[in-house]
Amino acid sequence: MKRFALMFTLLAACTTGAATNASCPTENAPSYAAFGQPFFATYCTGCHSATASDRHGAPASQNYDTEDDVREHAGEIDAMAAAGPDATNTAMPQLGGGVDHRPSSTEREQLGAFLACMSAAP
Ligand code: HEC
Repeated sequence: MKRFALMFTLLAACTTGAATNASCPTENAPSYAAFGQPFFATYCTGCHSATASDRHGAPASQNYDTEDDVREHAGEIDAMAAAGPDATNTAMPQLGGGVDHRPSSTEREQLGAFLACMSAAP
């Protein structure tokens, strides 16, 4: 019973955001090469990488080194860091591991669109 309560607390601590419900733009859709890769390298892989020297507590299951890694976690990333019509999520990134500033609101909107495109066209 105690363990169940603890699990619930941990889950609650992680589900800070909501789905943004962003959509994939029909023109100039953000690509992995032009947007995704540099975004995750700038803001996330300092902690969320298989090769991070110090993960700063980032869960071992959450790595964003490749397009496939990102696709696998698209829903969770959307709810933690992206912005769209239904939510503006700012729980991530934490600062550290070489990440010294947070994305602008424009970048968070681009992230939402990018993830929507990724889910639409796997
Ligand atoms: C300074 C280190 C650090 C950086 C940089 C960072 N994270 Fe995290 N991340 C963490 C830690 C620590 C946790 C676990 C604690 C938590 O969930 O708050 C975590 C957890 C997560 C989770 C899992 C939440 C869950 O439900 O378990 C996601 C998704 C995530 N981060 C996305 C991102 C994204 C996207 C970026 C880049 C925009 C990012 N993080 C940048 C440290 C970091």
